[in-house]
Amino acid sequence: MNSIVKEPVWIPVGPVSEFSEEGGVCAQVDGTQVAVFRFSSRNEWFACENRCPHTGDMVLSRGMIGDSKGEPKVACPMHKKSFSLRTGECISGDEYSIKTYPIHIEDGMVYIGIEKP
Ligand code: FES
Repeated sequence: MNSIVKEPVWIPVGPVSEFSEEGGVCAQVDGTQVAVFRFSSRNEWFACENRCPHTGDMVLSRGMIGDSKGEPKVACPMHKKSFSLRTGECISGDEYSIKTYPIHIEDGMVYIGIEKP
């Protein structure tokens, strides 16, 4: 049986020049706060929900990005719980997870992919 893979709707969130290297920015995407990370040292970009599932605070865009055994991660600035930026899984041993979003760069603009019903 074939499954239907839906293409996300790509929402522009700003030009590349507005995102600092090795850092995060909070962007409003379709009414949701999304943390956008320009991970220059890996030459990659990542996006995830800005909300930390530990307390519900909107803080992940201010988290520290890094690497755990090759896995790109963000550590929450509040209590340092770490999440994979690829899968959203908590990699510091808790049963939390975060939503991640597809992201792409085209003609100097950053786009976040949102699934629409
Ligand atoms: S609020 Fe993020 S780890 Fe506690």
